[in-house]
Amino acid sequence: MNQKLMKQEKLLNYINGEWVEPSTEKFTAVKNPANKETLVQVPLSNKEDVESATESAKKAQKNWALVPAPQRAEVLYRVGLIMKDRKEHLSQLLTMENGKVIEEARGEVQEGIDMAFYMAGEGRRLFGQTTPSELKDKFAMSVRAPVGVVGIITPWNFPIAIATWKSFPAIVAGNAVVWKPATETPIMAFELAKIFEEAGLPNGVVNVVFGSGSSVGEAMIEQDDIRVISFTGSNNVGRNIASKCGQKLKKVSLEMGGKNAVIVMDDADLSLAVEGILWSAFGTSGQRCTACSRVMVHESLKNQLEERLLNEMAKLSIGNGLDETIKVGPIINQGGLDKIKSYIQIGRNEGAKLLAGGYVMENGAFAKGHYFAPTLFTDVSPDMRIAKEEIFGPVVSLIPIKSLEEAIEINNSVEYGLSSSIFTRDVNKVFQAQRDLDTGIVYVNAGTTGAEIHLPFGGTKGTGNGHRDSGLAALDVFTEWKSVYVDFSGKLQRAQIDVE
Ligand code: UN1
Repeated sequence: MNQKLMKQEKLLNYINGEWVEPSTEKFTAVKNPANKETLVQVPLSNKEDVESATESAKKAQKNWALVPAPQRAEVLYRVGLIMKDRKEHLSQLLTMENGKVIEEARGEVQEGIDMAFYMAGEGRRLFGQTTPSELKDKFAMSVRAPVGVVGIITPWNFPIAIATWKSFPAIVAGNAVVWKPATETPIMAFELAKIFEEAGLPNGVVNVVFGSGSSVGEAMIEQDDIRVISFTGSNNVGRNIASKCGQKLKKVSLEMGGKNAVIVMDDADLSLAVEGILWSAFGTSGQRCTACSRVMVHESLKNQLEERLLNEMAKLSIGNGLDETIKVGPIINQGGLDKIKSYIQIGRNEGAKLLAGGYVMENGAFAKGHYFAPTLFTDVSPDMRIAKEEIFGPVVSLIPIKSLEEAIEINNSVEYGLSSSIFTRDVNKVFQAQRDLDTGIVYVNAGTTGAEIHLPFGGTKGTGNGHRDSGLAALDVFTEWKSVYVDFSGKLQRAQIDVE
């Protein structure tokens, strides 16, 4: 590990404001995907650790809920200021543990800072409704009440931003948190926990338990005191969480990826479309839930688009993301690389035409890390697996289309519904597309990535279960509605009966 950036050789769980060894005494190495060097050891905790984290959260939550929300918000405001102050340090660590290029890492940390200030503002709102009562001398209102202890499970691809999407609204609403970060990227969790501590968050309001999904995640589901699980990750894991939590009547908020498409109409600004596709397909090496992995291009522009994409793809510099000139970083680990590789074979077998990439980069310095060449398939038909399944890597499939209606139909035919985009200059097509694209996010004349924190983030169908991260929608996940009636008539008034 770069000693200037981080002193620790091993991380510890953070429970009740203390850094504690996992009860298993087991650890595993966290490797830099750019060069496979060991960065730090991370705990492999178990049920006992989850139990003590939940206990600590339960105790802390009682007092935290009584702290006036504007004061709770001030802690988040300080968290935002510290993050801002430490932005470069956090970004470099993020690039080291996740691999994303430094410019994107800075963007991700900024997303967390934005969330801190946004949710801090919510401490002075947290609006409910007041309504007239149907009876005389009676008052009616609804307020947001905290749920209690909430469990958050965060992924490696946005280890700090997504952690802020989930923990900040939970905290401002008066909950306490048990947090399981991805074992691939625990450093951001360690850094954020330190920041909570420095900002003055009371002990036990946030507890971090490192470890695997099968051990720590399952134990969180089992804990009756954890009333909400908010999860971002793969579809299979999300389904498992939802079905087990269903039995326990736990609230579950899931965000599970996409098969996001860019539609390029015949009147599009082609240069802009090329830039949008490159950025949203190959940024973060395609390891975003929102990454563009399908391009539906009007047949009249297909050849031109292929040629321009190939030209630009050849210029993409690939390597260690700490180097400011690098545009595409490594893939998270060997498992990720193997999955991407398997889809190249699937695409070939299905008869798609491979125009560029399609291989693991193993020559010279690339052999030290996990690198995959940016890949372009063309003549892809919508029923091929590469056009339907999430690959989570730098692989794009071009699908020729004849009309907007056809593009919309293909867009909506997949099991996911996170993000979509259309490049066109026709205002009628813009409005038709934003109405008919069945995704939680729609972009016009931009790629499929770039969500901002003050609007809801999430999607339809297999992408989720109807909840959203970010924006005001996040508060719905972490609060219960409480309706309060105050009768000041001094007599019994029966609703629906004692009315004129
Ligand atoms: C994700 O990939 O899970 O809109 C999150 C975006 C980012 C967040 C991506 N702001 O691509």
